[in-house]
Amino acid sequence: MGFNATWAPTASALVLVVAVTTNEDGSPRPYALYDAGLASAFMTVEASHRGIAVHPIAGFNRDQVKAEYSLPENFAQTAILVLGKQAPADALGNSALIERENAPRVRLKLPELVVAGLPKPQDLAFSA
Ligand SMILES: Cc1cc2nc3c(=O)[nH]c(=O)nc-3n(C[C@H](O)[C@H](O)[C@H](O)COP(=O)(O)O)c2cc1C
Repeated sequence: MGFNATWAPTASALVLVVAVTTNEDGSPRPYALYDAGLASAFMTVEASHRGIAVHPIAGFNRDQVKAEYSLPENFAQTAILVLGKQAPADALGNSALIERENAPRVRLKLPELVVAGLPKPQDLAFSA
C-alpha cells in the first residue's frame, strides 16, 4: 500500500509471515506471535549474511491477502519481508523515499530499551 507499492513489487520475493494462533483442536498457541517474530528475525539475519536485503513492511492490504490466499481465521498476518538485491537509493525515484534511504540509521540507546527493576508503564520511554 502507499509508498510501498512503488518499490516493493520490484523485489525478488515477498514473504508473508503468518502466526498460526490456534492448534487443530482450537486451543490457543500463546507464543505464536513470538515465534513468528523470531522466525522473521533469523530469516533477516541469515538473508543479510548471504547479501540479500530484507525490508519488513506492515503497509499492505491484509483483507486482500486474506482473500487472495484463502487464509484461515487462525492465520494472523504479521508483516511481509521484502527480499532482494539492494538497489541504489536513486532507483526509488521519489525524493522523500530517497532521503529516508540515505539518512543515517538511528537506534535507541540501550538504557532506553532495557529497564531494570519493575518500572511503571508510564515511565517507559516508548509508552504513549
Ligand atoms: C513490523 C515492521 C513494519 C514495517 N513496515 C514498513 C512499511 O510498511 N514500509 C516501509 O517502508 N518500512 C516499514 N518498516 C520499516 C523498515 O522495514 C525499516 O525497519 C526501517 O526503514 C529502518 O530501516 P533500517 O533498519 O535500515 O534503519 C517496518 C518495520 C517493521 C519492523
